Amino acid sequence: MYRSAPTTPQYKATARAGSNIAFIKYWGVADPRLNLPLNNSISMTLGALHSTTTVEWDTAGRLSADQITIDGERAEGKKAERVTQHLDLIRHLAGDRRFRARVVSRNNFPMASGIASSASAFAALTMAACAALNLNYDRTRLSAIARRGSGSASRSLFGGYVEWERGADDASSIARQLFPPDYWTLRDVVAIISTTEKAVSSQSGHMLAMSSPLNAGRIDSLYSALQEVRTALALRDLTRLGPIIEQDALAMHAVMMTSRPSLLYWQPGTLEVLHAVRRWREEDGFPVYFTIDAGPNVHLICEAAFERELLKRLQTLNNVRSVVTSGPGDGAEIIDQHLF
Ligand code: DP6
Repeated sequence: MYRSAPTTPQYKATARAGSNIAFIKYWGVADPRLNLPLNNSISMTLGALHSTTTVEWDTAGRLSADQITIDGERAEGKKAERVTQHLDLIRHLAGDRRFRARVVSRNNFPMASGIASSASAFAALTMAACAALNLNYDRTRLSAIARRGSGSASRSLFGGYVEWERGADDASSIARQLFPPDYWTLRDVVAIISTTEKAVSSQSGHMLAMSSPLNAGRIDSLYSALQEVRTALALRDLTRLGPIIEQDALAMHAVMMTSRPSLLYWQPGTLEVLHAVRRWREEDGFPVYFTIDAGPNVHLICEAAFERELLKRLQTLNNVRSVVTSGPGDGAEIIDQHLF
């Protein structure tokens, strides 16, 4: 019988992960070292907006430092440091701190589009880096590891509608799927107002949440808000989901604005979209609701059947520079096509 020769381990893997949009936001960190959040959050993983990342561990000792390329450019400074820190954690888990890595990552959306890339980036990085070291962790464990790199990345390990449990320690702060992607074909239509990189990263913003007098009020209200979102998702009821996600986006921005120092992510165009959405609902019951991350762009949530009409309406607004859309997608996955 012919037997193929055993292949030498490659120490190389590629993963793809979608970004996600939170319906109940993660804002505020309880433990900065472990990246434990102040509250549970719920999101939809985005199928059309993803990061692909190849990691190769240099077992021959050729590299003296990790070599990181993002969207064709060598990452330097803080950006590179954040990736290296995450790789340090994974090196630690593998019990081998020597290997440096070559990392190449590509987003299928422009980094400067204002769409969160840390969620998809750290989910893909975690899955690829662990697979390349033959660390056979399940999604739950991978979500806990991804969380250390970026909180929202913990949710992108799973597809569809996902809840990240705040948890009490490293092992219990994990995400889980509430409903698969095909359970409900919602759309996230992102009205891009500005593409300039934000002055204050979410990473630093999370540290400020507790300095706002409104933070405790928001956190107290979330127990029932989270339950309402779970129920609205279970019933596929946008008229129930919409108001609650708008309220939490506004509550989060109220916390941001009243932090010390104050964070003000909105631009005039942000308000233009918010007013238009309310007007459309009042005038002819057009079923669309908004949410906003740590930036000026507005994510509009609607049923798939209303997407075309929404795109038409957005064209009538003065400050919407472009639009990007996505439906729900799968969780992070290993793929065969390496980037190098
Ligand atoms: C407003 O996950 O980007 O998008 O852990 O520092 O990477 P880091 O923060 P990040 O924060 C997300 C903030 C948010 C809300 C959300 O997605 O839940």
